[in-house]
Amino acid sequence: MKIVRRPAAMRALVRDARRRGKTVGFVPTMGALHDGHLSLVRRARRDHDRVVVSVFVNPLQFGPREDYRRYPRDHRLDARLCRAAGCDWFFLPTARAVYPERFQTFVVAGPLAARWEGAVRPGHFGGVLTVVLKLLNMVEPDTLYLGQKDAQQAAVVGAMMRDLDLPARLAVAPIVRERDGLAMSSRNAYLGPEDRVRAAGFPRALAAAAALARGGARDARRLEREVKRVLRLETKPDAIDYVALVDPRTLLPVARLNRRALLLAAIRVGRTRLLDNRFLTPSRGKR
Ligand code: PAJ
Repeated sequence: MKIVRRPAAMRALVRDARRRGKTVGFVPTMGALHDGHLSLVRRARRDHDRVVVSVFVNPLQFGPREDYRRYPRDHRLDARLCRAAGCDWFFLPTARAVYPERFQTFVVAGPLAARWEGAVRPGHFGGVLTVVLKLLNMVEPDTLYLGQKDAQQAAVVGAMMRDLDLPARLAVAPIVRERDGLAMSSRNAYLGPEDRVRAAGFPRALAAAAALARGGARDARRLEREVKRVLRLETKPDAIDYVALVDPRTLLPVARLNRRALLLAAIRVGRTRLLDNRFLTPSRGKR
């Protein structure tokens, strides 16, 4: 595995590989890698001849009161994990290379970014889209790999790729979870032992709504109420930012579970924000 720091060197390596007929998969990350990230790397490894993983903690997607400074950074460990997962090129651009002096051009996110994470974190998706577009231009991959963990991010990036005619294909991989069901996240490292136990109630709250849906419940507000009920019982979150049953394509709320829908949720446990989501399908028969 080669460590690449300069964007120009990154592009030259990929262009040379493609000239020789190789295909390239790309996994952008902010590091502090865990099995969720590595599942994307392994999938890219299966699908392509060359695999690029980037680690760049993107200042543009953090709000002024968010965790940019204390976001966990361990490039050596990340490099080891990437190598083991089959990465060929470990891309570590510097903030100066990505945002040089007089940088002034930004991607504007559309309505898909307005609600949920976009409402809680103003400017976040504009920052994500800007860096993802830049990284796609530096790497020029055949396929971009993102995780369903950040469902809205995947939707917003997919829209940009279509809207701006980007040539790469988007692949979205399923959520990887800890043994107790908590979705893996670099931010789980912030949780103290007691908060970590509380956090495990979060996926169980989504599972409770799925169980109601299997039993025939279709009213979206009732399913959302069930999530909040179990959350208050088991997790006692410091805040529930949102719990919403939405159309997977538009991310707009649905009134009833008449077709497959996405249950999106974000909570705070202590100072840590946790995201999770789960697809619900209507059960046939009784309602
Ligand atoms: P980061 O949070 O490091 O996540 C990198 C990728 O890993 C994202 O596509 C995310 O959805 C995926 N991922 C994280 N946890 C996962 C899990 N438990 N299961 C499956 N996939 C998971 O998302 C970002 O970085 C940034 O916004 C980025 C796209 C790199 C732009 O800066």
